[in-house]
Amino acid sequence: MALTLAFDVYGTLIDTQGVLQQLQDIVGKRAKDFSALWRNKQLEYSFRRGLMQQYRDFSICTQHALEFTCKQFDTPLTDTQKHSLLNTYNELPVFNDVKAALLQLKSENHTLCAFSNGTMDAVTNLLKNAGIYDSFDCIVSVDEVQSFKPSPEVYAHLLKAVNSAADKVWLISSNAFDVIGAKSSGLHAAWVQRAATDQFDPWEFQPDVTISSLTQLAEQMSRNRPN
Ligand code: LAC
Repeated sequence: MALTLAFDVYGTLIDTQGVLQQLQDIVGKRAKDFSALWRNKQLEYSFRRGLMQQYRDFSICTQHALEFTCKQFDTPLTDTQKHSLLNTYNELPVFNDVKAALLQLKSENHTLCAFSNGTMDAVTNLLKNAGIYDSFDCIVSVDEVQSFKPSPEVYAHLLKAVNSAADKVWLISSNAFDVIGAKSSGLHAAWVQRAATDQFDPWEFQPDVTISSLTQLAEQMSRNRPN
């Protein structure tokens, strides 16, 4: 029996560190720390907006987080530099392991879905730009319920959109908070530990499988295939 596999986008399929090169030209050696704070603030803003029920689309979280990070680094950017960085964010590169893994999973008849905090337009553009759009059967955006991961609402929305029971759906994500959100809502989840130093939170919710790249996913899915 084939499964429904819902892939997180930013950080799992698409590399948010793709802005590093451009940041190096602006902040030099501090580019890595700048990029990490930018990403962490972006997620923090999405969590806070979700809790406060003050939804604005994810690109606003990205933009506000960039402004915060510039202040924190005492690096005022020109409007042109900010636009250029935000444009790069709309065209981030795909991780190396993604294309082949998606093709293999597709050939095994699994249903592949992209499931993201990003809006439908933003995710569609990213996947098209990365050349992986055609691998997906569907795109599900939190924008449709105006909330963010890891609200239970967004996982319920995913299940409704793919018309499947929670125990038939796998979330595939490098974001531990997303894996925990999915597990808490009754889905299966695979954690993609993209760097050996990435830690999983010591909560009562743990991933069903941990993989270091998507290349291992097809093998894991055949092991976990329901009878
Ligand atoms: C996403 C963020 C969480 O794509 O990475 O949903």
